[in-house]
Amino acid sequence: MSTLPTLTPITSAWMQELMEEKTVLNELLAKHGSPINIHQTDAMAYNFNSYRKVFEEFGLKYKIFFARKANKTKGVVQKAHALGMGIDTASYQEYAQCLDMGIPPSDLIVTAAVKNRKLVEKAIQNGSLLILDNEDECALVQAVASAQDKKAKIGFRVSGFFVNEKKLYSRFGFDLLDIDDFISANFLGSEKFNYLEYKGLHFHLNGYSIEERSYALTQCLAFSQLLSKKGMKTEFIDIGGGILMNYLKYETEWEYFHQQLRKAVSRKVDPITYGNQGLGFEAVNGDLHGELKTYPFWNAVSKGDFLREILSYKIHSSENLAEVSNNLSIEIRMEPGRSMLDQVGVTVAKVAFRKQDSTGDWLVGLEMNMTQMLSGSADFLLDPFVLYQEEQSEEQPVEVYFTGAYCLERDILLKRKIALPNLPQVGDLVIFVNTAGYMMHFFESSAHLFPLATNLIWNRSTENGRINSAHFQNDENL
Ligand SMILES: Cc1ncc(COP(=O)(O)O)c(C=O)c1O
Repeated sequence: MSTLPTLTPITSAWMQELMEEKTVLNELLAKHGSPINIHQTDAMAYNFNSYRKVFEEFGLKYKIFFARKANKTKGVVQKAHALGMGIDTASYQEYAQCLDMGIPPSDLIVTAAVKNRKLVEKAIQNGSLLILDNEDECALVQAVASAQDKKAKIGFRVSGFFVNEKKLYSRFGFDLLDIDDFISANFLGSEKFNYLEYKGLHFHLNGYSIEERSYALTQCLAFSQLLSKKGMKTEFIDIGGGILMNYLKYETEWEYFHQQLRKAVSRKVDPITYGNQGLGFEAVNGDLHGELKTYPFWNAVSKGDFLREILSYKIHSSENLAEVSNNLSIEIRMEPGRSMLDQVGVTVAKVAFRKQDSTGDWLVGLEMNMTQMLSGSADFLLDPFVLYQEEQSEEQPVEVYFTGAYCLERDILLKRKIALPNLPQVGDLVIFVNTAGYMMHFFESSAHLFPLATNLIWNRSTENGRINSAHFQNDENL
């Protein structure tokens, strides 16, 4: 038996149901090519409700915006809108497409890191809120709004919060230490930005710390009181995204994986990753340095519970942050992306070849490339599923790496070596689950002229209980 660590993903019923449907999956791959991304959006209601429940528990005025940058399909945006969410948009194309889908401008916000004139013109014309990052953006919005003779609704993105006396660095936003003077000089003491109508404050923090988000919210609430004394009313504070979700079934597996990775990098056991990559760990002169640089795929506090902990935080006060917000009549907003897509998508690819490399490791080549399932962190740490086309009468365990189609030595789809009951055959299917948040689209590219994967939306209404490939709609046609 393999001693490789396994990392068993949480898989919802629809994923298991789909994996029983080899014929349907084969038909879909034959029709659309490999790989395909399949979305089933029912879980978004559960994810949305986990946040909604918490806001309601605290009696807060709230609004939840789905950060659509995490997945580019129209299907997930339509579902978010149908659930009553607003949409956080990050480009002209994202914004304009939402309008084309009939989403009211009042439900759209623009947080794009770079806002070109075309985007600003469209947002002001339609009356959507823009979150501003710097003085040049204020000037652009002022110029466009005065040309249209129409006030622009704006919020300020703020950064540079202090957490236990340490300042959090961010390349985004107005620094907390400068913004008061900036507003006083340009909004209160001058007509310079007289077409900008202030509505609220915004932050989005890197990483996944509850404490840092609580400190940031505390400092925004304090700043809103200062602004209020100067006659500027803060209607909302938007706490951004970065709310954790949990991908894995077992904490014990997560702990064992950590242990084994550390041992492997220290050369105490055989490598468990391709080329013994440390995923953040490094052995220097026999000592292990660094830390795991992947998403925390297992975590105990996620989604609504994570939000509850932020809102329950008390910093130098007998009141928690929800109570302070309520007392100041401030609406709390958030922009979850990844966590709103928990249990919403899978990526399916076909096996093209198997071979053993010069070190004896098995490589299983898939008809896909590394950009079609790529994590912004060091690796995507979930075991994939293999659908063998032929019944496997007996197990012949094997350990493999899955490789991709780009002409790069580093096109290894998962850095982890994966233990399987049998070696896949050419034409077998490999399913990567829970890939809808960032994994499918964020880094995808068309090098070698490979077409981008087709995105399908599974409408789970079945005729006579049978699943049929016609139930899977191409997102382009929505
Ligand atoms: C401004 C802003 N809001 C929301 C999000 C969504 O974050 P997440 O997907 O981690 O929830 C991001 C992600 O980068 C962001 O930049």
